[in-house]
Amino acid sequence: MISPMLQKARDFEAHYAPFIPPEHRPAFHLTPTIGWMNDPNGFSMYKGEYHLFYQYYPYSTEWNDMHWGHVKTRDFLHWERLPAAMAPDQPYDKNGVFSGSAIELPDGRQLLVYTAVRQIREVDGELHDCQTQCVAIGDGVDYEKWPNNPVLEEKDLPEGGSPIDFRDPKIWQEPDGTYRLVAGNRTPDGSGAVLLYESKNGTDWSYVGTVDASRNLYGMMWECPDFFPLDGKQVLLVSPQEMSPIGLEFHAGHGNVCIVGHYDKERNIFVRERIQAIDYGIDFYAAQTLEAADGRRIMIGWMQNWNTLSVKPRNARWFGQMTLPRELTLDKDGRLIQTPVREIEQYRRNPVVYQNVLLSGEISLVGVYGRMIDMTVKIRPVSPSSYSCFRLHLARDGQFETTLRYKPDTSILKMDRTRSGSNADTVHTRSILIKPREDGALKLRLIMDRNSIEVFVNDGEVAASVAIFTRQDAVGIGFEATGSVMMDVEKYDIVLD
Ligand code: FRU
Repeated sequence: MISPMLQKARDFEAHYAPFIPPEHRPAFHLTPTIGWMNDPNGFSMYKGEYHLFYQYYPYSTEWNDMHWGHVKTRDFLHWERLPAAMAPDQPYDKNGVFSGSAIELPDGRQLLVYTAVRQIREVDGELHDCQTQCVAIGDGVDYEKWPNNPVLEEKDLPEGGSPIDFRDPKIWQEPDGTYRLVAGNRTPDGSGAVLLYESKNGTDWSYVGTVDASRNLYGMMWECPDFFPLDGKQVLLVSPQEMSPIGLEFHAGHGNVCIVGHYDKERNIFVRERIQAIDYGIDFYAAQTLEAADGRRIMIGWMQNWNTLSVKPRNARWFGQMTLPRELTLDKDGRLIQTPVREIEQYRRNPVVYQNVLLSGEISLVGVYGRMIDMTVKIRPVSPSSYSCFRLHLARDGQFETTLRYKPDTSILKMDRTRSGSNADTVHTRSILIKPREDGALKLRLIMDRNSIEVFVNDGEVAASVAIFTRQDAVGIGFEATGSVMMDVEKYDIVLD
């Protein structure tokens, strides 16, 4: 049964979304059908296709009562739009259908598990959230909320766990058929934790234990956890609120954290080995992964961040975009490596290749421009200390540009979108520490898609995303060295058929 509230959202998107010209959106990064989008939800395989849901408010470009938007894809670049999947239409989720995940059941139905929010007025008049975990089951388009919702509530929390901040369940199935999920929670010390639950059927859940906790070191509430094996280790992703900066690894505000460790599944003991940021750019949050049919671990993130989202395109009927999905691996030191999904390579057109360009001062290269491109730039010093600074100017015209600047003496890459179409007084620069390579070379792969730039440094050792709102005819690209470097450039247009 489609509730009147969900039908209204579906009618609204069907009626008004066609008025958004396709060229007013990114070409291959997902944006909402219409209105507002935040976290990716339910990123998973269902009946041979990849489904993605998202936090959604169709009626305006501001966050409001959360619905779930819905798309599916076969290649992570073409997104087929499906009608909105859920609305906040039940007493237990009337203040929002918050983030969650999805899985295919053995009988071929699709199970969604999400956070239901309802607000409660306390005796002193204060309003606060009551967050529970709920389930909906459907056929890949229409979903019925489970009659016995919620499936996890206050009584299922460990002692001292907060029923106000208890959200974002991420489900998976173990090889023996049991389901497990992790959810974010706030502990008595005020900071975040990740709780683990288990179920035989996806609807009856019991608490197993805590996987890991911030203990006030890595931010406060831990949102949007994900927990999966990767290359012989175990990875925990979380999006902490209110982080304090730690060197250049973590910036203040809403952060994104990847913890790599060893996991004893039987005893639920997770031992940390390494902790790092996932994305070192300006706009990234709430990442979620799936295991692809061929075994790849693929991650997608919201390419915005709560602290910087005042940067909005003027007059647009949509707001919020996802990253390009990324393949995850670990290197020999257990560091997270991210590369754009390989599917993008089939849409590379019009190659422009330069090799061994001796760069000294500033140049542009014939044929190297664009806003929907996949470009790799490699530089190497011509002799020890042959340059003190390398700059890449992107999305450029006389007025606008977004720059990447690398200084080999500090190994710092600086991303700067001060002049990228935003008049908001918010964060526009980020400094990123790069592990220098023995040969002094630096490799930057850039994916640009109208309103964003994603940078992958040294074959994915560092990823950094930034949303830009520069006008679309600013297509210039400039290369600049103080001193001299040898440079190779390989650039393709990305053209979807
Ligand atoms: C993270 C988040 C989640 C929540 C959702 C609400 O961005 O705050 O914790 O479920 O957004 O839209």
